[in-house]
Amino acid sequence: MKLETHRLVLRPISQSDKKEIFEYRSDKEVNKYQGWIPETVDEVETFIEKVANQMNEPDTWFQFVIVKKESKKIIGDLGIHFFGEKNLQVEIGCTLNKFFQGKGYATESVKRVIDYLFNDLKKNRIITSVDPKNLRSINLVERIGFRKEAHFVESLFVNGKWVDDVVYALIEKDWETIN
Ligand SMILES: CC(C)(COP(=O)(O)OP(=O)(O)OC[C@H]1O[C@@H](n2cnc3c(N)ncnc32)[C@H](O)[C@@H]1OP(=O)(O)O)[C@@H](O)C(=O)NCCC(=O)NCCS
Repeated sequence: MKLETHRLVLRPISQSDKKEIFEYRSDKEVNKYQGWIPETVDEVETFIEKVANQMNEPDTWFQFVIVKKESKKIIGDLGIHFFGEKNLQVEIGCTLNKFFQGKGYATESVKRVIDYLFNDLKKNRIITSVDPKNLRSINLVERIGFRKEAHFVESLFVNGKWVDDVVYALIEKDWETIN
């Protein structure tokens, strides 16, 4: 299972990716709004073991790595959580290596995944859950056209403190209008 864009390939994560993933996922500053910041490469190995082998299994996370076509370097990852009535909803989350932020790679990856989820897998609703202080993430989802649906106050305990959670969503009909 592989998705392509102009500059990128998205392919399933594998154990041989663990060191490259550790390189950017272990960065405590860049990932300060994330619930998972690995301390060791072994933790990345366990993470890769736990994700689903196949796309679209109910109540699992599937994980893509984002690879630059030109250099074949892994520049980030994108997770998809399949859930809900008849398995028709998904949650997504995206992380980029800091050296590859600000170049439109997250926008390009997320849009390709949205196309795939709506057009091929026929999903009805895509959500993403963001800390309101995570401005790059907020900009990303608003740029793409997600609608802000809810702001939960101190609803998550992340990295030792209570934080707010803002839920954004996109339904299939929205995507048809946007594109
Ligand atoms: C969230 C995250 C993926 C967003 O990354 P990003 O680099 O801001 O987003 P993009 O890759 O789409 O880049 C957009 C920026 O590139 C610029 N850009 C440059 N070339 C571009 C192009 N060809 N196409 C689109 N945008 C382009 C845009 O103008 C925008 O700039 P701005 O930030 O000054 O507004 C990133 O900040 C991240 O990994 N954060 C840490 C992990 C995290 O917290 N994830 C969220 C939890 S789900």
